[in-house]
Amino acid sequence: MIIAIPKEVAAGERRVALVPDGAKALIAAGHEVHVQRGAGEAAGAFDAAYEAAGARIADEVLADAELVLKVQTPDEAELASLRPGTALVALLRPLDEPARIADLAERGLTAFALELIPRIARAQSMDVLSSQATVAGYRAVLVAAEMLPRMFPMLVTAAGTISPARVFVIGAGVAGLQAIATARRLGAVVEAYDTRVAAAEQIGSLGGRFVSLALDVGDAEDAGGYAREQSEGFYEKQRALMAEVAARSDIVITTALVPGKKSPLLIDTAGIRGMRAGSVVVDLAAAGGGNCEPTQADQEVNVDGVRVLGPTNLPSDLSPNASQMLSKNVVTLVLHLTTAGDLALDLDDEITDGALVTHAGKIRVERVRAALEGGA
Ligand code: NAI
Repeated sequence: MIIAIPKEVAAGERRVALVPDGAKALIAAGHEVHVQRGAGEAAGAFDAAYEAAGARIADEVLADAELVLKVQTPDEAELASLRPGTALVALLRPLDEPARIADLAERGLTAFALELIPRIARAQSMDVLSSQATVAGYRAVLVAAEMLPRMFPMLVTAAGTISPARVFVIGAGVAGLQAIATARRLGAVVEAYDTRVAAAEQIGSLGGRFVSLALDVGDAEDAGGYAREQSEGFYEKQRALMAEVAARSDIVITTALVPGKKSPLLIDTAGIRGMRAGSVVVDLAAAGGGNCEPTQADQEVNVDGVRVLGPTNLPSDLSPNASQMLSKNVVTLVLHLTTAGDLALDLDDEITDGALVTHAGKIRVERVRAALEGGA
């Protein structure tokens, strides 16, 4: 197949979907790889490296593409360049932006949403959500550490004892666990909470203290390992308890997501006001509305001296590593989807069936159709 790698057009996006090593793997499998000039530059992947891997560099790559690999959803101009029947692999935000998925279906594109790859052992090396959340969780701690006017580790010196910074992580999934590990490595005292019971042990194994709340979470986890949505009454109680822990923390990092739902509101403005001035909150759920009431996507909001950040694309800050991992995920998926250089759609296969969101003019995924009808 002719596989195209266009330069990302979304504002602030520095990642690229395929790095030169990935191009080499796809070429070895019988594909042709066409890379738009400069597509990988912001991720430290230069044209010469793609050429050395056997790819072709061109100013325009979409018109004759059979498969397009992108980080983010194509924009209007890119879509206009694609022929019906072209396959597309990208982060398509299918449950958050179902109208865009409907547009891809109408255009006759065969689109795979990386977010919909099922979380089964066989698909672990294709799991873009995990690879990018790992980067985001790490980066969130560094961003907060840079802004906090205090050191992280405890220091016992002749000039006195410096107490360690206290970090509170809400949501101990992939991003949260990496945030805990990073904050611990820098010497902070870390507390964390998650509604999933299994998270307590994982938090402990990284040297964090699981905050146990007097809350009945019920059956908090679905079959895919994701959190279930809780009742508003639950969230109200959770907010009161989270505020108590936040008040003794210098940094709060929130990562709590419920797939396809608005992010649960876990710290209200009063809870933020209860924190010491100079404290920092990094809300990694900002793209879905945020876990904190004052959060604004990609902005800093100052609440009585507490700085609340809502970064939506931290992986892009570390684009070489994030792209390397994303590329590995994407290559594994493409090799899974193709046989002898051609797309071979086995709809009985759980991975193909799960990720293929539009095909032959239709939206194939019930959850996406439901989100569209729900007016999301
Ligand atoms: P996510 O990004 O959807 O959510 C982040 C975290 O927020 C989750 O741990 C969730 O339980 C938590 N959360 C939701 N509501 C909350 C609330 N009200 N208060 C506190 N925390 C709340 O989840 P992520 O990070 O993508 O993965 C979650 C879990 O999925 C993993 O820990 C693991 O069990 C499973 N997983 C399985 C994989 C596999 O089998 N290949 C790969 C990655 C994750």
